[in-house]
Amino acid sequence: MITKEQIEAFGTIETPFYFYDMDLLRQTLEIYKKQINRYGWHAHYAMKANANDRILATIRDFGLGADCVSGNEVKLAVKSGFDPQKIVYAGVGKSDKEIKAALRAGIFSFNCESVPEIRIINDLAASMGRKARISIRVNPDIDAHTHKYISTGLKENKFGISPWAFQDVTDLLAQCPNLELLGLHFHVGSQITELPVFALLCRRIEELQQWFIAHNVPIANINLGGGLGVNYQDPNGDPIAHFEAYFDIIHKNLVVRPGQQVHFEPGRALVAQCGHLISRVLYVKVGREKKFAILDAGMNDLIRPSLYQAWHDIENLTSNGRKLRYDVVGPVCESSDCWGQKRLVNTCKRGDLVAIHSAGAYGQVMAMRYNQRDLAKAVYSDDLKK
Ligand code: LLP
Repeated sequence: MITKEQIEAFGTIETPFYFYDMDLLRQTLEIYKKQINRYGWHAHYAMKANANDRILATIRDFGLGADCVSGNEVKLAVKSGFDPQKIVYAGVGKSDKEIKAALRAGIFSFNCESVPEIRIINDLAASMGRKARISIRVNPDIDAHTHKYISTGLKENKFGISPWAFQDVTDLLAQCPNLELLGLHFHVGSQITELPVFALLCRRIEELQQWFIAHNVPIANINLGGGLGVNYQDPNGDPIAHFEAYFDIIHKNLVVRPGQQVHFEPGRALVAQCGHLISRVLYVKVGREKKFAILDAGMNDLIRPSLYQAWHDIENLTSNGRKLRYDVVGPVCESSDCWGQKRLVNTCKRGDLVAIHSAGAYGQVMAMRYNQRDLAKAVYSDDLKK
């Protein structure tokens, strides 16, 4: 919830900007840690969700590791002080340069997404006189009931290795002296709000693990990836993701063998609600059929609505006027640069401050300079207090 004092402080700041409520971030992390610690499980923050330095530092200070999907993310994680022993690295297209850099950094695990990738990691590790720890990212063929662009665990998706290739993997591993197999990795999609999806994943993990047990391949680590969704409809009323219920359903459904470690890669659930994109109303254009509220923030600042038809709550922070229906749009020269159609928002006038909520995950990090627009800067609640 953005406070009155914060809204006052926004008055002098150039819009659009990202506002991060650092108290909410810390509160979210505290609850997350408390819940995951009940089971002694491990977390690696999916830094693709938000790689902002202050956010990374806060998450690092809570003792989480990092989940990376590019060589530069691995570099940034190390530079930001994440313990390399807690860095995992996934991605279907790791380049030789990226693999070598991650080997040099001594990361915990490469989460491998294809048979040829496993071979290349072995060869590069051999050429450097190193041993690489790897996990097999499995494509479990599970429907995460989320948007098709952010669903990753179906057999038609490019991610992971399908069970029919397990024999090829173990045959190959037998010829790879520079690899150590740590375990299995899964990630079936993002913004998953139907918790039974995770129960299904757990049962599928057990089925798949049986294959490895039958083939005498020890699985020391199971990584369930990320994916827990947040409440985009009611960010003020329900600001913290339902970690207790999430871990509870996993605890009840995942068969964990003695000595096995369980890992997670939360992204969105940790950072989405602490971020708000703050903009100003530039113009209110009244047509015959509808009214447009034209903001100074656009799809280049936050691409989720135009890329995934994602719904974000829109709030006029500086108006008590009666709620009217607006098509709330941005300034970019694309019809898809639209924050929402027929949205009920307090009466808008030029200069009003408008918040697009739940913008902390996959917001600033996916921003771009289309139309040569400037990148929105970050403002932190901690700094406003001073
Ligand atoms: N682990 C892996 C291997 C992933 O690919 C992802 C996200 C995560 C963990 C973190 O998932 P989360 O906990 O954030 O759901 N840009 C899209 C989301 C893309 C997610 C990509 N992978 C969006 O704005 O909805």
